[in-house]
Amino acid sequence: MDFYHTLQGLLLAPTPHEKIERFGTFYEHYRNNTDAVLHSHESPLSFTAPSYASFSHVVPPQQVPRRKNLQSSEGQIALVHAIAHIEYSAIDLALDAAYRFRNLPQRFYDDWLQVADDEIRHFQMLETLLHHLGSYYGDLSVHNALFEAQERTAHSLLHRMAVVPRYLEANGLDATPQIITKLQRLPHCSKLTQIIDTLNVIVAEEVEHVRKGDYWFGYACELAGADKSCYFNIVELYYPNTFQQPRHINIDGRKASGFTCKELKHIAHRHICN
Ligand SMILES: [Fe+2]
Ligand SMILES: [Fe+2]
Repeated sequence: MDFYHTLQGLLLAPTPHEKIERFGTFYEHYRNNTDAVLHSHESPLSFTAPSYASFSHVVPPQQVPRRKNLQSSEGQIALVHAIAHIEYSAIDLALDAAYRFRNLPQRFYDDWLQVADDEIRHFQMLETLLHHLGSYYGDLSVHNALFEAQERTAHSLLHRMAVVPRYLEANGLDATPQIITKLQRLPHCSKLTQIIDTLNVIVAEEVEHVRKGDYWFGYACELAGADKSCYFNIVELYYPNTFQQPRHINIDGRKASGFTCKELKHIAHRHICN
């Protein structure tokens, strides 16, 4: 099995079912064969459209359906669909890291394939919830913000690790507990409980993704002879002024995933820890 060609096929797979089924076969083979050939002199493809464009209506982020009333099934569908889309995009982001950045230590590929496996499980949990709510993934419009981040950072491991796991996924660590709190304040019902339980599993597991990103960001800094403090300048290149306003952060999640007290102070605009 050619490692990079197989990953290319997975990234281009036109349906969730095909991507997930083929990943299962590939990942089982990968884990059982320590002789996987990871060296390549070929260049990776650059993608012009996200893999979900074949079955989803892609629109600018402002045009994605809003969550509305979370007690209505319409609101719950909009919320679960939006998060399922993030998880589906995250499958491709993890696969793309393993596909694009070549001739790195085996552990790099172990890490990002493990993340892809987690993202698939997250997506499937949300897809099941969507089915219970009477909807399916692809029913609502989606945005391509994560695909854009993937493409814009395709040239640099350093930029990819700063922007994707250490900025976008870390923002998810901050945002998900706030969504959970909002849902917990609503009158209890079994559908909301299922959504809350799923989000709790996801946010707990995302900490490890950000931690892996932190490790490989440090690795990429060493390769580039850069200090980890370059993180803020890199993220600002893609999201100008993003650190100008204080933000509410998931302190425990961010600390567990490798953010230093100094970084947290810069992000939250207040003293967090020593
Ligand atoms: Fe996830
Ligand atoms: Fe993740």
